[in-house]
Amino acid sequence: MTSPEAKMAAGVVGWPVAHSLSPTLHGAWIAALKLDATYSAFALPPDDAGAMLRSLPASGLRGVNVTVPHKELALSIADIVSPTAERIGAANLLTVDASGRIVADNTDARGFLDGLVRAGGDATGTAVLLGAGGAARAVIAALADAGCREIRLVNRTADKAKALARLAEELGLKASVHEPAGASAACAGARLLVNATSLGMKGAGPLEIPDLSRLAPGAAVYDLVYVPRETQLLKAARGRGLKAIEGLDMLIGQARPSFRAFFGADPPDAVDARSLLENARPANTPAPWPAR
Ligand code: ATR
Repeated sequence: MTSPEAKMAAGVVGWPVAHSLSPTLHGAWIAALKLDATYSAFALPPDDAGAMLRSLPASGLRGVNVTVPHKELALSIADIVSPTAERIGAANLLTVDASGRIVADNTDARGFLDGLVRAGGDATGTAVLLGAGGAARAVIAALADAGCREIRLVNRTADKAKALARLAEELGLKASVHEPAGASAACAGARLLVNATSLGMKGAGPLEIPDLSRLAPGAAVYDLVYVPRETQLLKAARGRGLKAIEGLDMLIGQARPSFRAFFGADPPDAVDARSLLENARPANTPAPWPAR
């Protein structure tokens, strides 16, 4: 299906990479637009990943998306780093510019906002963020860009939440740190609740759902978990008549600017990306890394 010899080639790098949804999504967009392009999965073993990513300009690829566990490495090997990637401290997109330099960007924050805006959510007031890992960092960068004023950080490990609170303050937000037991109180009057923990995901433990009645009327609840698509948190939000935003929206939202960066075209609306990904069970066969 994919060949780096095609006119435009890009892909996703990770370890493992077999279960990435990106080839399914980009492949469907390429097919719908009838582009002479390929989007492959490349498995980069951690010991070799740095050298392999540094060889990107010689690979013939236009760029790659970067997934776990290489997002920080991708930032460190780049010649040019976007302000967003710098803030987040990780890159999920590497491209090669006309001078053969590697440019690192992060589209997770834009992907998050894309989902929020599409659902009519409001990020300008107070937001509650559950979790303090890599995904939570991208959410903070996004909320700062969207004009959020106050963020309440809830996390099991207080030190990680404090580090994120410092980031939020550097970006001009008022920030406070709360224990998981204080999650319901932290929701008081907030217009947005985001789950950026892995809790609620298939195979992980359940998320203890805060008292959603404490949120402001019409608030939005955004769950970054996308397996299952309808999490217990989103079910509870819908049950209260709140806006429920699915993790798939962020996944699709981060892929859109990547597709534009690789192939110079907007992803076609004709592809129902949500239904496609909801039913996808990818088992990508990793392609050989095309360094020349
Ligand atoms: P990601 O890149 O997806 O953000 P991560 O950096 O590993 O992944 O972050 C996972 C988040 O889920 C963290 O906030 C983590 O809490 P800690 O900072 O305390 O580790 C949270 N998380 C994962 N498992 C959890 C659990 N069993 N109970 C509470 N929080 C959990």
